[in-house]
Amino acid sequence: MSDPLYDELLQLAFEAADRAGRLLRDGRPADLGVAATKTSPIDVVTEMDIASEKLITGFLTEHRPHDGFLGEEGASVTGTSGVRWVIDPVDGTVNYLYGLPSWAVSIAAEKDGETVVGVVAAPMRGETYHAVLGGGAFNNGERVRHRPAPPLSQALVGTGFGYLTERRIGQAEVVRALVPQVRDIRRGGSAAIDLCDVACGRLDAYYERGLNPWDLAAGVLIAREAGALTGGRPGEPASQELTVAASPEVFGVLQPLLEDLGAWHD
Ligand code: IPD
Ligand code: CA
Ligand code: CA
Ligand code: CA
Repeated sequence: MSDPLYDELLQLAFEAADRAGRLLRDGRPADLGVAATKTSPIDVVTEMDIASEKLITGFLTEHRPHDGFLGEEGASVTGTSGVRWVIDPVDGTVNYLYGLPSWAVSIAAEKDGETVVGVVAAPMRGETYHAVLGGGAFNNGERVRHRPAPPLSQALVGTGFGYLTERRIGQAEVVRALVPQVRDIRRGGSAAIDLCDVACGRLDAYYERGLNPWDLAAGVLIAREAGALTGGRPGEPASQELTVAASPEVFGVLQPLLEDLGAWHD
């Protein structure tokens, strides 16, 4: 049964993601450069990340002035309505900077702390993924499901690396241990798209340490609503410590393996 509040949040998230996606696709300066660095010299932000977040928060505030916000580029508003928007204005900034197509706008809406709506727009793919809590997952309006699970040795596994140099060494060690145990590894460069690829059956699994709420909020809901399992360390939800999403049988093998490999610590 559809909830009028969720419907409203979904329509607003669609519209905001679509507007931001157009701005990013059509307005990308040919000479786009790095505007600033954040947690490390490779953690970059461009003027377009900032413009996209401004567009999204401006649009949503206009329609729902009492909501809270959490955005990667600084949006932080508590709000009074019980709804909070969690926004990654460009997920895959390094791809975007280089003109590679794998980047997305990720918008999730939480109600009383629970993610109830997720929209991930990937303009260069011509695809927008969405989910509403309990309502299934969709790509351009078509229902999607996770892939029928192969054994781990035949699984295509996505992952990513954070921007902190020390941590990347540990993440590389985990990949080194994993490579011989799976079909192959993919590093796409957008956590939100990776999670949607699990939802669409284009990856058997995805894991990453160090994601922030804006990277994972929408994509985790979309993966779950596509029937994939999501989590962190065994028994824990997906978090900054570790995010794992996979077809159920792969999840059952991969999560304990990542635990053994120490994928959750530096
Ligand atoms: C990054 C991307 C990348 C992942 C990093 C994220 P950003 O987000 O999702 O794939 O490996 O951990 O920080 O900075 O491009 O929004
Ligand atoms: Ca991100
Ligand atoms: Ca971002
Ligand atoms: Ca970033």
